[in-house]
Amino acid sequence: MNNLYQRSIEIILENQSESGGYIASPNFPTYHYCWFRDGSFIAYAMDLAEQHESARRFHQWVADRVNERRDLVRASILKVRAGEKLNEADILHTRYRLDGTDGEPGNWPNFQLDGFGTWLWALNEHQKQNPAIRLSQELLSAADLAADYLSELWILPCYDCWEEFPDNIHPHTIAAIYGGLMAYSELTGKSHPLVTDAIRDQLLVGAKPFGHFVKFSDSSAVDASLLALAVPYGVVAPDDPIMLKTVEQIEATILHGGGLHRYAKDSYYGGGAWILLTAWLGWYYAELSAARPDLEAGLKQKIRTCQTWIESRADMLFLPEQISENLNFPTYFSTWMDRWGEVASPLLWSHAKYIILQVRTLPRYLNPQDKNIQ
Ligand code: BGC
Repeated sequence: MNNLYQRSIEIILENQSESGGYIASPNFPTYHYCWFRDGSFIAYAMDLAEQHESARRFHQWVADRVNERRDLVRASILKVRAGEKLNEADILHTRYRLDGTDGEPGNWPNFQLDGFGTWLWALNEHQKQNPAIRLSQELLSAADLAADYLSELWILPCYDCWEEFPDNIHPHTIAAIYGGLMAYSELTGKSHPLVTDAIRDQLLVGAKPFGHFVKFSDSSAVDASLLALAVPYGVVAPDDPIMLKTVEQIEATILHGGGLHRYAKDSYYGGGAWILLTAWLGWYYAELSAARPDLEAGLKQKIRTCQTWIESRADMLFLPEQISENLNFPTYFSTWMDRWGEVASPLLWSHAKYIILQVRTLPRYLNPQDKNIQ
């Protein structure tokens, strides 16, 4: 593997706190927190890179956060069942300080459900990558709590994975919940079929008028996070016609010059191209190629384009959150520079997604049917 891959592992290890949490970005004060969303993908990348102890420590960190908030989780479930409205004090936060405490109250939206689904998915992947270990009772109790919480709250609107649009129910968010609950079922044998069936139906109904998944129900616009509906959450297969059409729309409307943007109207730092999303697209192509060997040649080329684009944007082997090129709204770049300074770099989630891309495009993953490949 190349220098950027090796350096990515080091950057993640260097920035894992003693407590086990991963800081989102060490050089960007606003991101001095650990998010379940970012952290779960980072832990998955560490498992793929055979850094299992790092992944284990992260999962333990998450379990501690969830278990110490057991009463809050139980109370919020009862409130939702009773038809009562939840407020900020009733919910699990989306990000925590590395010492495990909640961030400043009220200064940043916290009601985001996708990260808990992503965590259940990553925990199951951790178990699959380490079949010899038995997950601790603490981990399993935290997984039970997270699954109960999600199966009750999934129906509520919440902020999306970009921490925006709190009044909507977002396809990516409920897909993460679907993927998390399916993974939880594989891990523990306990399933929530009514919820997972309802989520899948809701996603398919939402796609119907357009023939592809959409960011909001009243427009045909897409969001790069829709990639997750197939990879990794598996609501549909990578070669499902709805998914193929979704990716066609993503390529046509938000992939510019090789870099993938979050969505066409994104104005955060002007709306640049994100490293982690470009890697995610390459990962999707890899899974599509594994499912459809007949498409392999063309997909190989597309995967290579994603890899080269990322590699050529690394700055001294640091991968930032986004690259300020082909901006959706150039005038907003300085607004954010004035507010929060330079774009976050390195962003651990970017490094994680690059590791995932590199490992999942190894021949043994691209050609799972060929048993002779290591
Ligand atoms: C992104 C989130 C991410 C956070 C930390 C925010 O700007 O919208 O998805 O979890 O940064 O990386």
